[in-house]
Amino acid sequence: MENNRAQWGSKLGFILAAAGSAVGLGNIWKFPGKAFEGGGGAFLLMYLLIVPLIGMPCMMSELAIGRAAQSNVVDSFGRLGHKGYAWTGWVGWAVAFIITCYYSHVGGWVLRYTVSYAMESGKVYADPLGYFYNMLGYDAAAGSTFIPWPVLIFATLFMAVCCFIIIKGVEGGIERFNKIGMPALFVILVVLLIRAATLPGAAPGLKYMLSIDASKVTPQTFLIALSQAFYSLSLGMAIMITYGSYLPKTENIARNTFMVCTMDTLVAVIAGFMVIPAVFATLGPEGVGKGGGFAFVSLAGVFQQMPGGAFFGFLFYLLLLFAALTSTISLIEGIVAFLIERKGWKRTPTTIAVGLIMFLIGCLYTCSQAALPIKGIWFDFKNGITYPAFCDAMEFLTDRIMIPVCALGCCLFAGWSWTPENVCKEIEQGGIRFGLVKLYSFLIKFVAPAAIIVILAVSLFTGTTLS
Ligand code: PFF
Repeated sequence: MENNRAQWGSKLGFILAAAGSAVGLGNIWKFPGKAFEGGGGAFLLMYLLIVPLIGMPCMMSELAIGRAAQSNVVDSFGRLGHKGYAWTGWVGWAVAFIITCYYSHVGGWVLRYTVSYAMESGKVYADPLGYFYNMLGYDAAAGSTFIPWPVLIFATLFMAVCCFIIIKGVEGGIERFNKIGMPALFVILVVLLIRAATLPGAAPGLKYMLSIDASKVTPQTFLIALSQAFYSLSLGMAIMITYGSYLPKTENIARNTFMVCTMDTLVAVIAGFMVIPAVFATLGPEGVGKGGGFAFVSLAGVFQQMPGGAFFGFLFYLLLLFAALTSTISLIEGIVAFLIERKGWKRTPTTIAVGLIMFLIGCLYTCSQAALPIKGIWFDFKNGITYPAFCDAMEFLTDRIMIPVCALGCCLFAGWSWTPENVCKEIEQGGIRFGLVKLYSFLIKFVAPAAIIVILAVSLFTGTTLS
């Protein structure tokens, strides 16, 4: 099996694919909102410390596990002599499955907005909130709800494109798409950054992002930055183990990790420096919100007041679209690769079947936003049993519990069971020298697991979501 395993066709191919997975909706719309909430500079500083000290060791471990085992996310642990960790792989696989269900639908919303800005920006501007609600099946004026067929069709399209690329395989599909998508994303990002930074009134926003408000340097800000880093770097969800398994032995895992983490962080920081000053300049600090509403509703006000707004709005959603596509592709690859290998199924029918199932579950996500009263169930020690909307329950499950659990499993595996010596041996394959063995061992054994346990405890005991 080892010899037949797909491999990246080039060094750049892997880096762009891994960066494509990491750079996603999380960077471009979650990060700026979190940065604002965390006081701008204070959050930025913490984030920039967390990525090298916790994110990089975790990513390096996941890539080394995948490459050493040359297997899928569940069987990798057994191949390295620790079958007892298969649960970590199962959790990671399940996280990827659940996230794809909703991530692909949000991709559909983004596609909808890309078209909206190209064709009817006036309608979006006239009533940004109403337009957003309407897309999701709620007519605020009449107080009535309906099934949002148009956006479901956009989500179908989005999912179909992702599946098509997966069917084309690792080198011909994923690598090739990322080679176009990632540079395109970067160019658009820089154009938007220049547009935002040169808007009259952007200076206070820039200042906010650069000054450190001491009152915001708190454990809470730290935890928000930490879980944002996990989500943003695609850790704790089967992806980096799968992508690592396609990595040739001659590649330098440490250097690749550094490059992927740097690119991901760079995009997040640029997005922060683009969105926050633009919102300050047009709507004022009150205009900055969080979550989906922020990307789809508040930004409409920004584009409306910006010269050339409809064009830049279109570019912005195109940027989000690329980011969402490359991330969704990585998620589906993790899921499909496992099924192909474990069950011996064929790539094409597996991708279509899995894509269809995830799309259908995703319909419940989109419809439970507003159109239908579908509930999930949730428990935390502060609020007891609650029945949040189905869409929220899905995100709680992955962000609050499953991602930290899977990431913790990987850290314990790399730090204590398989041992950092073996991780470093894998990194040093092909004659590469890794000079940070001691630092890596300390971070993966103690620092990262402790940080993840705190995230889990805070989520479970206080009921707050940190990502
Ligand atoms: N890292 C992506 C983001 O920042 O949006 C989200 C993501 C993609 C998470 C792929 C997990 C994943 F496997």
